[in-house]
Amino acid sequence: MKAAIYPGSFDPVTYGHLDVIRRAADIFDELTISVLNNVKKTPLFSVGERVKILKEATKDLKNVTVESFSGLLVDYAKEKNIHVVVRGLRAITDFEYELQNAQTNRLLSGEKLDTMFLTTSLEYAYLSSTTVKEIASFGGDISACVPEFVADEIYKKYGVTK
Ligand code: PNS
Repeated sequence: MKAAIYPGSFDPVTYGHLDVIRRAADIFDELTISVLNNVKKTPLFSVGERVKILKEATKDLKNVTVESFSGLLVDYAKEKNIHVVVRGLRAITDFEYELQNAQTNRLLSGEKLDTMFLTTSLEYAYLSSTTVKEIASFGGDISACVPEFVADEIYKKYGVTK
């Protein structure tokens, strides 16, 4: 049984994340999407809200589960006995940060936790949760970026009526 973790902030999930989730769910027998509970960030959505949104967005994928974690990814992965982390790579700008994280996790885990990168499909290469939130906060159209029910939730947070 090959299992992997797809960790992230997912504040909120975009079509770019969903593309990585679908492709990783095809590769692995079990995929756990893990929302980081990061006390250092002020997110738009609470961890509970992000988990709920992700569950709804992935409800057709039977081998996908969604949960949250706090602390170090290596400790969480060890607890779950999972040895592979999946991350999406959009562009060269992601590379340095992702490489640093992957190598740190490999070191911290005693070479037990590896990271596999999926290159984001080209149509989503420009997407980020931050950009989506900025567009939505000004009432812009985010229908190409997130599922409709997610867009509704984002507009609601910004008090934008559509
Ligand atoms: O969606 P994001 O914000 O790019 O995800 C980053 C994430 C959650 C994968 C990363 O910040 C993480 O794993 N944080 C947990 C803390 C940790 O283990 N830090 C050391 C790895 S460098």
